Amino acid sequence: MKPIDFDKLTEAARHVALNSYCPYSRYRVGAALLADNGMIYTGCNVENASYGLTVCAERAAMMNAVADGVRGFRALVVTAGAQARPGMPCGSCRQVLSEFCTPDMPVLCATLDGSGSVQTTLGELLPHGFSKLDVEG
Ligand code: THU
Repeated sequence: MKPIDFDKLTEAARHVALNSYCPYSRYRVGAALLADNGMIYTGCNVENASYGLTVCAERAAMMNAVADGVRGFRALVVTAGAQARPGMPCGSCRQVLSEFCTPDMPVLCATLDGSGSVQTTLGELLPHGFSKLDVEG
């Protein structure tokens, strides 16, 4: 299996963040998911005048992948924030990611301007998460 190219994923996440629709928060987010098949699926946050209907970048990327028939992932890069404070995935995105990603999946959160990053895993971000094992019994 090829090593994960985090630079390429970061570049893809920063690129898609340019398409972020965030007139209310002015906070751009880009996400890039590396799928098992080697494809990269991206997403950006899309806000709405009814604020609660906003879609996060991570979930947008995940929906793109699933709509393409992909359900297995190797890595996630999120790009948001500046001044050495990378944006981290929100709680809802952590839960949605856990539907298709294993706890050992690496997650890299990097600022948009390259001033800082945090490397972690989905399991660290969502310990003791609720999963299909709970529902299926
Ligand atoms: N946002 C994301 O895209 N992903 C997250 O995990 C956290 C928050 C977006 C939603 C909103 O457009 C903006 O960041 C500020 O909350």
